Amino acid sequence: MLGIKDMNSNFLKVLNQQSAEHTPIWLMRQAGRYLPEYRKTREQAGSFLNLCKNPDLATEVTLQPLRRFALDASIMFSDILVVPEAMGMHLYFSDGEGPKFTNPLQSSLDVDALKVIEPDFDLAYVMQLIRNLKQELPRNTPLIGFSGSPWTLACYMIEGGSSKNYEKIKTWVYSHPQQLHNLLDKVSIAVADYLVAQIKAGVDTVMLFDSWGGVLSEAKFIEFSHAYLAKVLQRIQLSLPANKTPSIVFTKGGGVWLEQLDQLKCNALGVDWTIDIGKARSQTTKVIQGNLDPVMLSVANPSIIKTEVSRIIQAYREANAGDLTGHIFNLGHGILPSAKLDNVSALIDAVHELSQR
Ligand code: CP3
Repeated sequence: MLGIKDMNSNFLKVLNQQSAEHTPIWLMRQAGRYLPEYRKTREQAGSFLNLCKNPDLATEVTLQPLRRFALDASIMFSDILVVPEAMGMHLYFSDGEGPKFTNPLQSSLDVDALKVIEPDFDLAYVMQLIRNLKQELPRNTPLIGFSGSPWTLACYMIEGGSSKNYEKIKTWVYSHPQQLHNLLDKVSIAVADYLVAQIKAGVDTVMLFDSWGGVLSEAKFIEFSHAYLAKVLQRIQLSLPANKTPSIVFTKGGGVWLEQLDQLKCNALGVDWTIDIGKARSQTTKVIQGNLDPVMLSVANPSIIKTEVSRIIQAYREANAGDLTGHIFNLGHGILPSAKLDNVSALIDAVHELSQR
């Protein structure tokens, strides 16, 4: 059953396969460096991690994009890497280079040493952020909670940061698969328990970011990423049997595996910009979230963006028997720091205008 708040939300209506007034839109990384007010608050916090761990400042930056733009959903401000940190790894963010772990996993002993997390305790600052946001968000703006997928978190935990060729984790894939399965089992439990805690604290949807699933071959994707996405979703359902909180799975580069992703017990699949959305529509029964190339917001102009929005909406409509139900508009990946504010406004206005029912 949808609650009173939910009735007014186009985003939750679409996630539940119901008709809406227009196609809802939100943007991955909608709170971020392209916003001057974000840069200011981040400076005030001293560092990105301090910002994540300060519930009042994290509340503020979550709300910032909603004050500027007519977004249809909010996403709690945090990062996927707070989970490995809570499991005992040492995380820092270096300017220009992104996230780093000082002690990347190297052996099965390192896997054994990882802590089993208690999210309400180890990630209490995230739960406080969710409770704050439930108070502060407008009634018809749903809140998205999230986690990294087990595979994507394992990539960072083993590589120690962003990676070009994934040689370290692929050594585990090809030479120590059992060790990797043990790690993924452990991370899946942490991810599921973290999402259960988020649901209990009040998020309206949960999203799994499988940002690096696309670096695997199909067989290895099924074995090392898909299987653990399924495990996480199953553990959430076992922990909360009456749970109706919808879930979204986003595998970057996963457009080639929509048939397999369709088997997951989730409500929606995120797609990046490489697949035609009409083609995606014909390959899955789930709600589809996507799929504008995020770079457009940095390099194009409002009129080019409107033309591209029109093309995406038209392609979806044609593949869906003239109906726009089942589509949540988003970027195919996170918005870049170089995105232009007037392009973002133009995008959101175009989606609302061109999808009016
Ligand atoms: O979407 C939102 O507005 C919520 C916030 C959010 C952030 N990270 C904030 C952030 C979310 C959902 C994430 C998820 C995340 N973090 C992912 C999955 C999504 C994806 O992009 O594929 C990944 C892989 C990470 C890991 C991570 N965190 C990286 C690689 C980086 C560096 C990126 C860069 O461009 O420097 C981060 C840092 C980060 N996370 C920033 C923000 C706003 C920028 C940090 C800063 O302010 O300096």
